Amino acid sequence: MKVFITRIIPETGLELLRNAGIQYTEHREKRHLSPEELIAACKTHDALLSVGGNKINAAFLQACSHLKVVSLMAVGYDNVDVPAATALKIPIGNTPGVLSNATADTAFLLMLATARKAFYMHKVIGRGEWGFFEPTTNLGIELNGRTLGVLGLGKIGMALAKKCRGAFDMPLIYHNRHRNEEAEQLLGARYVSFEDLLKESDVLSLHAALTPETAGKFDAAAFAQMKPGSIFINTARGAMHNEQDLLAALESKTIWGAGLDVTNPEPMDQNNPLLNMPNVAVLPHIGSATVEARSGMARMAAENIIAGLKGEALPYGVNKV
Ligand code: GLV
Ligand code: GLV
Repeated sequence: MKVFITRIIPETGLELLRNAGIQYTEHREKRHLSPEELIAACKTHDALLSVGGNKINAAFLQACSHLKVVSLMAVGYDNVDVPAATALKIPIGNTPGVLSNATADTAFLLMLATARKAFYMHKVIGRGEWGFFEPTTNLGIELNGRTLGVLGLGKIGMALAKKCRGAFDMPLIYHNRHRNEEAEQLLGARYVSFEDLLKESDVLSLHAALTPETAGKFDAAAFAQMKPGSIFINTARGAMHNEQDLLAALESKTIWGAGLDVTNPEPMDQNNPLLNMPNVAVLPHIGSATVEARSGMARMAAENIIAGLKGEALPYGVNKV
């Protein structure tokens, strides 16, 4: 049994595969595989361990219907046509939970970096423009007691809310498809309509999955309803915000700042004006990039491969086949 792995992954996952007697091929080049290359590689393997946003669409799945399992080293599976996989009886696995803390840390980091213009100041020093102490310039805002609004309050959003409560005593409001009673009891979260989430949040952080319902949800009309002093944080998926509209909202001071770990499109162009704005902090999709999260993700992805190749139900499965 052989697995194709689309990137170099942490040793925790590889060791599990070796111990299970599974061979693997890693794509070790620092470039994306084209859809044709991915299909060609999978033809000679029994399973796929996919890292990054490879399109696991119906065309791919039909061309590779021999695959016994497709295991994503990611929590989000918006890049997969799950109904097509289910119809072809291909189990899809993901890695929920282990990256919640790391991703929440990233959102927290972006909130504070945005509020204090930290990334911009770092750049200014690098240009030799330290300047002198001016009491009225480079002012940020304090997060203490501000309202945190979360769209998609699940594991990651709850981890963020706990940090925000501990650090800054921030009350929590949220909007979800379904009420999160655990969060209401544990964290005093208050459920609000999407409109009220826009209107009442001082920091609005996205932790929903990318679906037709959330795609493009943050456009000019949405930003227009947010507070002028608010900060928009996206560590979920770039496709949930319209980046031109976000830039316009920042330029017109419709909102105060933005922190992005995901951009639309990815990668962000190096000349994007957002990169030069004081109230903006951007990271290159590193939400889960910690030793702890990535080794946990590699382990779970390998466990899904091992189960799938044995024809067993995946321990962390997305679909029922
Ligand atoms: C990363 O974006 C993930 O979905 O795990
Ligand atoms: C600032 O550095 C101060 O001393 O107030």
